[in-house]
Amino acid sequence: MTNNKDTKLVTAGRRKEWTHGIVNPPVYRASTCLFDTYAQLRERVADPTAKKLFYGRKGTPTQWSLEEAISELEGADGTMLFPSGIAAVTTAILSQVKAGDHILITDSAYEPTRSFADGVLKSMNVATDYYDPMAGSDIEGLVKANTSVIVVESPGSLTFEVQDIPAIVAVAKKHNIRTIADNTWATPLLFKPLEHGVDISVEACTKYLGGHSDAMIGSASANGAVFKKLSRTAYQMGHMVSPDDAFLTLRGLRTLGVRMKAHEENALKVAAWLHDHPAVSKILHPAFESCPGHATWARDFSGSSGLFSIVLTQGDYPDTAAMVDHMRLFKMGFSWGGYESLILPSDPAGSRSATQWKAPGPVLRLHIGLEDTDDLIADLADGLDRFCGQFKS
Ligand SMILES: Cc1ncc(COP(=O)(O)O)c(C=O)c1O
Repeated sequence: MTNNKDTKLVTAGRRKEWTHGIVNPPVYRASTCLFDTYAQLRERVADPTAKKLFYGRKGTPTQWSLEEAISELEGADGTMLFPSGIAAVTTAILSQVKAGDHILITDSAYEPTRSFADGVLKSMNVATDYYDPMAGSDIEGLVKANTSVIVVESPGSLTFEVQDIPAIVAVAKKHNIRTIADNTWATPLLFKPLEHGVDISVEACTKYLGGHSDAMIGSASANGAVFKKLSRTAYQMGHMVSPDDAFLTLRGLRTLGVRMKAHEENALKVAAWLHDHPAVSKILHPAFESCPGHATWARDFSGSSGLFSIVLTQGDYPDTAAMVDHMRLFKMGFSWGGYESLILPSDPAGSRSATQWKAPGPVLRLHIGLEDTDDLIADLADGLDRFCGQFKS
């Protein structure tokens, strides 16, 4: 109907047969669905992937509406929903591997993705090698005869390296390898993995798509035969999300466009201020030249979101307590993507094996929310004063 993403955000998934003429689809809570006749029962069982009421685990119009909206945004044939972002990542991988395979995961991946590979996949006899996120086409040197999947996450967790996804996809296609992208930082508004040849695009909808820090949910979107395998695996694993969480995510999705613009603008202002602060040695934000892969970000992405890291010039992680224990607006929390600002001391060294993390001081990950940037900067200024005060003799 339209290729304009702002219009899509408002209209996608709102089929009249699901909404019955009101704006939002109702929250259909269901386990048992009733059939009028034996013939109807047979018809519904015949195609378990059809969006027809059959059994609560297969979803209801509330979940289908969200699936369809995400598919439209990702440019995908289909989307499966999961009870968390990590369930979406792990099931996407599981759907494309078999015992005896080898896979490649970026060294900058979200830590629980690594722990799935080092735990469940290893016990299934699927071997993992981690690769330098800046590898680009050099990844070909790590490909083996049994490599079946390459996982990219761009920018990377904590350290924000932007990967050359088109170069990696070209290698993958040459060797008949499937690619899976954790696209949570960008959302399909800033980068559409499938348009760049990636096979499965995963979003931790817990973050920006939901946007209000009140729902745990993930999605994986794909085309054709890859989607068939993905949906079969998700169904066999018993994955589903509650209609309440699907509703909250749909509601968040409608305002994703305006929220992302505000996150981007606020984060750029705060990062520019931090860039000139003497306690900050480096800004790890894809829109800044100091970020590895900045040129790739400028080439492939249509903007930036609100999550980035800073590297401090001195001190160690325990020293950050003087700053983070007393913040007025930046609270500590393990998630991001909501309307509120967050701060998290996070040491990347413990979750790297193909590369080494070296820095003069600790890393602070910041999520810039929708507060006034003058207030956010004042909070950070006071916090950095407290941090620096410890080193004055
Ligand atoms: C990049 C990235 N991917 C995936 C996830 C997992 O999402 P969830 O917490 O919903 O499992 C997270 C969570 O922080 C994340 O930061």
